[in-house]
Amino acid sequence: MKTISVLSKKGGVGKTLTSIGVAQVLGEAGHTVALLDRDPEGTATSWAYNAQEAGTALPYRVVGPMQATTIGAVDFLIVDTPPNDKRTLQDTAKQSEVLLVPLLPGSGEVDRLEETVTALSEVTLPDGVQLGFVLNRLENDGVSRAMPDALAQLGYPVVAHVRKSVDYQRSFGGLIPGHLLAPFREALNELGVKA
Ligand SMILES: Nc1ncnc2c1ncn2[C@@H]1O[C@H](COP(=O)(O)OP(=O)(O)O)[C@@H](O)[C@H]1O
Ligand SMILES: [Mg+2]
Repeated sequence: MKTISVLSKKGGVGKTLTSIGVAQVLGEAGHTVALLDRDPEGTATSWAYNAQEAGTALPYRVVGPMQATTIGAVDFLIVDTPPNDKRTLQDTAKQSEVLLVPLLPGSGEVDRLEETVTALSEVTLPDGVQLGFVLNRLENDGVSRAMPDALAQLGYPVVAHVRKSVDYQRSFGGLIPGHLLAPFREALNELGVKA
């Protein structure tokens, strides 16, 4: 089993979207996938619940911390995490082979990454852990265009570029449309995870 976690101290940056996107890519590729929702807000859990109510079959299972022991043998465990919870962030990171950190465009957003990076640096991560940043909600403006360079200067590897699209919002409770999955596939590719 490979554990891929999606982390940030900041809320609203796309942790749940990235978790769901990665889970869908891997699930559609035929792997067995469980998404562990460690956020008490339960956004990923609601996503799966709504999908079930609508009769949409998701190619992955979403479980809360209470059902973590029922996950069993899966190829991939994706962990979605809450914002503003350093303990859960660090605890999750320690048990992960791949860490994805989404962020939004804006210089303030880059500054705020430091909190997440510091939290990660305070714990011993598994040998060979892979870290990648997911640029989310990119638009056609100077702020978005400045992001890749800003991160490169800090030495933060960007593994995916996700455009701002209302279709991501609309996919809540269902499947993300195929053409919007490319960035999540890109992230896995960049980090050497075979989808
Ligand atoms: N690329 C995007 N384009 C449009 N809306 C987005 C995008 N990424 C996230 N959102 C929306 O922003 C909100 C926060 O995203 P979410 O994944 O729940 O963030 P987090 O889990 O980090 O709090 C959600 O309503 C989601 O639909
Ligand atoms: Mg979330």
